[in-house]
Amino acid sequence: MDAGVFEHWVKRSLQDVELALEAWVPEAAPAGLGEAMRYAVLGAGKRLRPLLVLAAAEAVGGEGEAAMRAACAVELIHAYSLAHDDMPCMDNDVLRRGKPTLHVQFGEAQAMLAGDAMQALAFDVLTPDTGVAPALQARLCRLLARASGYDGMAGGQAIDLASVGKPLDERALRDMHRRKTGVLLQASVLMGAACGDISDNAWTALSDYGAAIGLAFQVVDDILDVTQDSEVLGKTAGKDQDSNKPTYVSVLGLDAARAYALQLRDQAHKALSDSGLADTAWLSLLADKVVERDN
Ligand code: IPE
Ligand code: IPE
Ligand code: MG
Ligand code: MG
Ligand code: MG
Repeated sequence: MDAGVFEHWVKRSLQDVELALEAWVPEAAPAGLGEAMRYAVLGAGKRLRPLLVLAAAEAVGGEGEAAMRAACAVELIHAYSLAHDDMPCMDNDVLRRGKPTLHVQFGEAQAMLAGDAMQALAFDVLTPDTGVAPALQARLCRLLARASGYDGMAGGQAIDLASVGKPLDERALRDMHRRKTGVLLQASVLMGAACGDISDNAWTALSDYGAAIGLAFQVVDDILDVTQDSEVLGKTAGKDQDSNKPTYVSVLGLDAARAYALQLRDQAHKALSDSGLADTAWLSLLADKVVERDN
C-alpha cells in the first residue's frame, strides 16, 4: 500500500469529520455552553477514534451516514472524557491539545457541564429521525454506552484515581488501561463494523484488533508522557510521575513498555489477517500509527 494513498484518505476523512462536528456541536447553547463545547471539540486532536470508525466501516462496506455519525459520537465522548480528566478533581491539568484546558479557560462548572452536554450530544447524533435504520441506531448507542460507562471508560477512570501511589501489578494495570482507554478505541472499531454486513468470525477478529490497539494506545500514551515534550504533546509532559500514577513505564520500565506496544501491534495485525476481510489496509496502517506516533 502506497503511504501517500493512506495519507490522502486520512486527510479527507479528517476534513469530513471536522465539517460534521462543526455542524453538530451547537454555537447557540445557552450561557456560553456552546462556546465551551466547541472549544473542547473543534480544530484539534488526532481524531484517531473517528478514523478507526471510518476505516472499520470501509472494511465491511459500511453505510456512510451511520459511520460518520458514529465517528463524531465517539469523538464527542472522547472530548468529554478529556475535559473531565483534566479537571482539578481528576488529573488537574492546564494544557490540552496545545491550549489551556477547558476549566482553565471557562471555569470548572462550565467545563463539567460542557462535558455532560457533549456526552448527551453523542447519543443525540446517533439517533437521527431519518437516514440510519432504527436497529442500527440502537446497536451503535449500546456499543458506545457500554464503552463509556461504569464497565468502560468511567470505570477505568475511577480505578485510575483510586490507584494513585499504589504499586499495581501488571494484570491490574492492564485491566485499568483497557477500561479507561482501550474499550472506547475498541468500540470505535466495532461501531464502524456494525455499519456493514459482517460475519461472526470477522466481528470477533475486529474486536481482537480493537482490544490490541486500544491497550497499545494507552501504553504509548504512558511512554510519551516520559519521552516527549509538552510542546509536541500539546499537554503537560511528565504528569504521570509527578502525580504518582502507576503506568506501563513505572511498572515495566521504558524498554519493556516499548516492546509490549510493538507486541500488541503485531497482535492487531494478526487479528486483521484472521478476519478474512479483504479491505483492511487502513486498519492495518492505523495500528502502525498508534504505536509510531510522537504525540
Ligand atoms: C488522550 O487521547 C487520552 C487518552 C485516552 C490517552 P488522545 O491522545 O487520542 O488525545 P487527542 O484526541 O489526540 O487530543
Ligand atoms: C486518560 O488517561 C484516559 C481518559 C479516559 C481521558 P490520561 O490521564 O493518561 O490521559 P492524558 O495523558 O491526560 O491525555
Ligand atoms: Mg487521567
Ligand atoms: Mg490525564
Ligand atoms: Mg496520559
